[in-house]
Amino acid sequence: MLSREQNELVTRTSKGTPGGEMLRRYWQPVALSSELSEDTPLPVDVMGEELVLFRDAKGQPQLIGRACPHRAVDLSYGRVENGGLRCIYHGWLLSGEGRCMEQPGEPDGSAFKTKIRHTAYPACDLGGLIFAYMGEGEAPRLPNFPFMNKPIEHTFVIKVLQECNYLQANEGNIDPQHLSYLHRFLSQAEAVESELNKLISNDPAPQIEVEETAYGLRLFAARANRPGKRFVRITNFIMPNASSFHGSPLVDPRKGAVNDNVGYQVHWHVPVDDYSHWKYTLAYRSDGPVDAEFQRNSQFAEIGADFRSPRTRQNRYMQNREEMKQTSFVGLGRSFQSHDKLATEAQGAILDRSVEHLGTTDRAVIMMRRQLLKAIEDMQAGRDPMFVERDGQPDALNEMVVLSQEVAADTDLLGGWWRGFDPASRGTLAIAE
Ligand code: FES
Ligand SMILES: [Fe+2]
Repeated sequence: MLSREQNELVTRTSKGTPGGEMLRRYWQPVALSSELSEDTPLPVDVMGEELVLFRDAKGQPQLIGRACPHRAVDLSYGRVENGGLRCIYHGWLLSGEGRCMEQPGEPDGSAFKTKIRHTAYPACDLGGLIFAYMGEGEAPRLPNFPFMNKPIEHTFVIKVLQECNYLQANEGNIDPQHLSYLHRFLSQAEAVESELNKLISNDPAPQIEVEETAYGLRLFAARANRPGKRFVRITNFIMPNASSFHGSPLVDPRKGAVNDNVGYQVHWHVPVDDYSHWKYTLAYRSDGPVDAEFQRNSQFAEIGADFRSPRTRQNRYMQNREEMKQTSFVGLGRSFQSHDKLATEAQGAILDRSVEHLGTTDRAVIMMRRQLLKAIEDMQAGRDPMFVERDGQPDALNEMVVLSQEVAADTDLLGGWWRGFDPASRGTLAIAE
């Protein structure tokens, strides 16, 4: 539970708000790389700011304010020319650094253009996403996710619009217990991943442990498995709006088994405004190509070319009561994405956290909110918030492990097993019938 004031702090993201300025101290995905061609600018809305992306002469993404600094025409209708973006109204040419390079209507020799300082943010392509830094001061180091240095075939990326505040979706990622209800299939044949479905159905009350890390939180969720065994899933919250976990299988289970411990999924929830956000999803496999076709056609089959789900509040998410009797707990088809969209949007546009009753399964949610509030406090005091990394500082993501593994039932999750854990020892998956 948060006070109304604290809730405002962590949910408001426009420029100048404490929460929004804190989010801006981190590199954020602002588009899929595939959305931005060489010759067509792309309008993007990020945290209430109207911006436009374009590619410069070298093909590098550039992110600038969408309203032309002359008389505010939308620059996404402009022409990509001479390494910049030219407004279609009077031909001003803007660079990716926010400089005005040409003002064709002004007299020769005029210095007027040198006075123009247009909004501009650093941006780059990494792993199929365009990341941007929209904060004050010098941009920190980019987070060092392993997928950022691998061939692009090792990742699959997509985004989905969710019509609610970013934070409630962020919270859903670090809430391991909801798997046993929201994502449970009543018929094993319906489950995309039947092994996981057996596990979450067998034990709907996992033991949940959480520890703080330099990048955020590490969660352990242990469920009963075969006699004398438990199955542990380790997932992570990554400051301030990302998470990593085992999502849908990395290759189609019908084409062959791949140990999911060679990869994982990352979600970022990036506000469009305070009432909607893009959920960027990236699936990464370290030892070979991800089965992109399988990813697209299993979890994202319903998502249109506009990255929107046909299931909305207006059509009550097409919830099917017959399906709820026969095949799935929530009656929304096979995609976890649809289930999560309903659950988080149905909390309201901005969840009022002053009326909640948080239980033992909400420990990570409580700790995450504390970390966000502390990050805001640090930023306001002139300090770098946690996981804003500068050159020379250790790389916190080296400590990040995503794991699904069977352990002895009496394993002390935060004790000897984890303290002595060697990431190279990650075993294969084994779940009881
Ligand atoms: S409004 Fe863009 S050049 Fe005039
Ligand atoms: Fe979920």
